[in-house]
Amino acid sequence: MALAYHEPPAELSAEARDVHRALSATIEELEAVAWYHQRAEVTPDAELKAILLHNRDEEIEHAAMALEWLRRRIPKFDEDLRTYLFTSGPIHAVEEAATGGDAADGNPPAAEGKGMGIGKFTK
Ligand SMILES: [Fe+2]
Repeated sequence: MALAYHEPPAELSAEARDVHRALSATIEELEAVAWYHQRAEVTPDAELKAILLHNRDEEIEHAAMALEWLRRRIPKFDEDLRTYLFTSGPIHAVEEAATGGDAADGNPPAAEGKGMGIGKFTK
């Protein structure tokens, strides 16, 4: 099922509609990853398993491409992906290190008042 609009599409900018398309594509690709991953795990046929894992990995590539498109346009995606991806150690500690605050309440001081980056698209 496609990602639903929450506002009339005609009231949204062309860029916002493209963001919706990219978010929809990312979700669909990740859903396909889940399907292939589960099917590959349960099939008793080794050849089918190899095909399903290949297909899963293709979907991961597609998801990564859509996510990169979003990262280039929504500053908050860029900020958070730069913070969390390709790190090591406990992931929750990455947030604490990045914010310098206590992330235990889910509201690190550095995140307050920053919004979601909506409307701050980069060109
Ligand atoms: Fe795909």
